Amino acid sequence: MEQTLVFVKPDGVQRGLIGEVIARLERRGLRLAAAKFMQVTEEFAGQHYAIHQGKPFYDKLIAYIISAPVMAMVWEGSNAVEAVRQTMGATRPTEAAPGSIRHDFGLEIGRNLTHASDSVENAKQEIALWFKPGELVSWQRSIDEWVFE
Ligand code: RTP
Ligand code: MG
Repeated sequence: MEQTLVFVKPDGVQRGLIGEVIARLERRGLRLAAAKFMQVTEEFAGQHYAIHQGKPFYDKLIAYIISAPVMAMVWEGSNAVEAVRQTMGATRPTEAAPGSIRHDFGLEIGRNLTHASDSVENAKQEIALWFKPGELVSWQRSIDEWVFE
């Protein structure tokens, strides 16, 4: 089953939107595999966003991600990476599709509420960075056959 790394960013946590994000992913049919509420350190944020090092927005991005706790999760399901990116919406909230989280709750790219892995390959790396293997729960839902074909 495809898995993806999601976290509710500090603005989403401060605004009380953890439940909203979880509710939307559950409603979509995705299955939760792991969750952890945590304060990210500057070093860890640098590891997660290593790909953006040197870009003009990098320092602001790190400051944003460590400014309050985040809610990190692994979600799984058919096409989970693509489905979750769609549920989050485009990076810039004003370009996100109506009905997506970033559209419905956001205005600015630097306050875009959530993270989601952008490829299956990166999802594997990010899950390994954020979670120990023992923190992932392998389980079946009784509704799985009505969601996964
Ligand atoms: P994320 O990694 O957080 O899920 O977001 P994303 O894939 O949609 O966007 P990405 O290109 O990976 O950028 C990571 C985060 O950096 C901030 N950003 N600011 N000011 C800017 O031009 C700018 N560009 C990116 C956003 O918070 C974005 O989510
Ligand atoms: Mg990204």
